[in-house]
Amino acid sequence: MNKVEIFENERAAGYNQFVETWIPNYNYFLDRLPKLLSGANHKNVLVVGCGTGNEIERFIQSPETWTITGIDPSPEMIKQASDKLQNNKNVTLIEGLVSDLNIEKKYDVATLLLVLHFLDDNGQKLNLLKDIANRLMSGATFVMLDITGNKEQIKQNLNVLKLLLPDGLDETEISNRLNRIENELFSVSEERLSALCIEAGFEQPLRFFQSSIYQGWLTTKK
Ligand SMILES: C[S@@+](CC[C@H](N)C(=O)[O-])C[C@H]1O[C@@H](n2cnc3c(N)ncnc32)[C@H](O)[C@@H]1O
Repeated sequence: MNKVEIFENERAAGYNQFVETWIPNYNYFLDRLPKLLSGANHKNVLVVGCGTGNEIERFIQSPETWTITGIDPSPEMIKQASDKLQNNKNVTLIEGLVSDLNIEKKYDVATLLLVLHFLDDNGQKLNLLKDIANRLMSGATFVMLDITGNKEQIKQNLNVLKLLLPDGLDETEISNRLNRIENELFSVSEERLSALCIEAGFEQPLRFFQSSIYQGWLTTKK
């Protein structure tokens, strides 16, 4: 079973503020997500690690009708998503892991935003990617956003990130966070991410977006 990074209490409550501060262009990326994926045939989307429902909100607001399943192991995050999305008829929220989902049900699109860096590259990343691939139709589109790069790229892009942070943040908070990203989170190189995707059953992924340490990737289920 995959390790789970549970977001609880204050961490869940302060989440949206946190991502806006620390991920430049996060809202741009989310706002364009439905447009980016609008070529999909049936618009049945699986949002893995849906957190507080940020991606789901964008799909709901898009002019096209999407049927959305959001899954997340954190009860606090699912509760926030549920409060925000208010029983929208096109949205199903599930507290759990992708491996809990019925393997017979296949989706046309999946997203995995800001999740993979919590999983070690000791089989956990691959298992999650395989669990997702196994729940997608052949030809389904899969989009990821994650901290990506080799050690030197991450180091240099953390300096860029530091320059882009809003004014007035506490210096200790900044250095703790940058240190955590560099030393505690499980980022992988672009080559390794590609290899993991291919092993899990996807085509070679395309890097289509970058904002400091964060890269956006698109691929297709084989
Ligand atoms: C940084 S948040 C990202 C939330 C959302 N995707 C977004 O962009 O706002 C990471 C989320 O991944 C969830 N998570 C942690 N481990 C997971 C796993 N093994 N499978 C799926 N989700 C996981 C956490 O509970 C958390 O809600």
